[in-house]
Amino acid sequence: MKFADDFVFGTATASYQVEGAHDEGGRTPSIWDTQCRTPGKIKNGDTGDVACDQYHRWPEDLEIIKGLGLGAYRFSISWSRVLPQGLGEPNPEGIAYYRELCRSLKQAGISPVVTLYHWDLPQVLEDRGGWTVRETAYAFADYARLMARELGDLVDVWSTLNEPWCSSYLGYASGVHAPGRTEPLAALQAVHHLNLAHGLAARALREELGDEVPVCLTLNLHVTHPLTDSAEDIAAARKIDVVGNEAFLMPVMEGVLSPELVEITREVTDWGFVQEGDLELCHQVPDILGVNYYSTSTVKARQEGEASTSGGHGETGVSPWVACDDVVFLPPEGPLTAMGWNQEPDALRRLLVQVSRRYPGQELMVTENGAAFSDEVSSDGQVHDPDRVAYLRQHLTAVAQAVEEGAQVTGYFLWSLLDNFEWSWGYQKRFGMVRVDYETLERTPKDSAKWYADLARSRDLDTVGEDWVAGA
Ligand code: BGC
Repeated sequence: MKFADDFVFGTATASYQVEGAHDEGGRTPSIWDTQCRTPGKIKNGDTGDVACDQYHRWPEDLEIIKGLGLGAYRFSISWSRVLPQGLGEPNPEGIAYYRELCRSLKQAGISPVVTLYHWDLPQVLEDRGGWTVRETAYAFADYARLMARELGDLVDVWSTLNEPWCSSYLGYASGVHAPGRTEPLAALQAVHHLNLAHGLAARALREELGDEVPVCLTLNLHVTHPLTDSAEDIAAARKIDVVGNEAFLMPVMEGVLSPELVEITREVTDWGFVQEGDLELCHQVPDILGVNYYSTSTVKARQEGEASTSGGHGETGVSPWVACDDVVFLPPEGPLTAMGWNQEPDALRRLLVQVSRRYPGQELMVTENGAAFSDEVSSDGQVHDPDRVAYLRQHLTAVAQAVEEGAQVTGYFLWSLLDNFEWSWGYQKRFGMVRVDYETLERTPKDSAKWYADLARSRDLDTVGEDWVAGA
């Protein structure tokens, strides 16, 4: 099974997870700096203060990406590094950092794929209400416009938001992510203001850069199976689909607020914060719909007296699934990754095909896929990570099959280039194809990196790297 010559093999990271240099170059705190300083929020009290120190070590990381022969690097901009007050006066030092990174990537033949928002809202904006207020969406559009003006000549793909599901529901409902709030109404306000932010920013990018430069929105579309084919279980799975997926897809792709979502959440809100004309503003169909995919869930309808569940997303005791108390998430079935997530590669194929059928002609990219495993450095100094290689092989096969079935998938970004700060898990979970020693910050490509480089070179899943994968 072969990938086309123009299929993009890339890799991804995010600013707070890799940059470090939290108080250098004029950067001000983001909500994640605050979250990390709140006792009990992050395992082991870890912070992104240093992370992988990519702020200083990016030339080395660029050499690694180049050495692996990858065509694109998806990274995110730290909003508070370029706009320390969230809006208003830009910080030339922050902008210069990203210009230099983009320029060097281009020179090395690697496409910069830039995400404007991978969860690190400037704390000053959270202090004014964060995503619960519409001003934040307008501030985001101004920030997008500034970046288009400053970096427009260097960036190949502009992604507005990464996984607004996480920003809204994990940030404002379960509180497992920053800003750590546990208010269902705030989460739904955040859903809407993030959709609005995407729409306003996409419009600003298109106004500044014309229609040639692709705009992307990245969603973590949830694949949820009903436990049985009873009407109740099917309704439970549909509820998750609506709250998790339709909440974003319908406003952005169709310009509509899902009537099912309004119905499901009616005890929380009447959605009165959606102003006239907002849905038209949200309705900016991305040139590329980014799909982040890791695993699936199985749910059933909750029986009387049965305990509710959090859906495997955090340990604050509050579920991110607003208005879904009557849905029970079943424990995932193995083999599990180190995150405790199941592995169901074929669901990725089905998801890509399904989205393509729903939105004919829509270009898709898998903007994240990968797995955490507890890899160790072997006595030969190498990191042999056969589980990750197997995971990648299976999921890339699913992508190739989806393409064969007509889905217009044009790229795949492995999460992640490096082991990095895994949010509430701190540094305990390693997603990298390159190991980071957090004492020395030394980088060691794992077997999976070599396997992926082989694939990027040959584009052929049938012949790639069987020998050393087997541990040779
Ligand atoms: C996020 C990444 C995260 C990864 C693994 C995605 O939800 O975009 O930032 O590290 O999943 O949890």
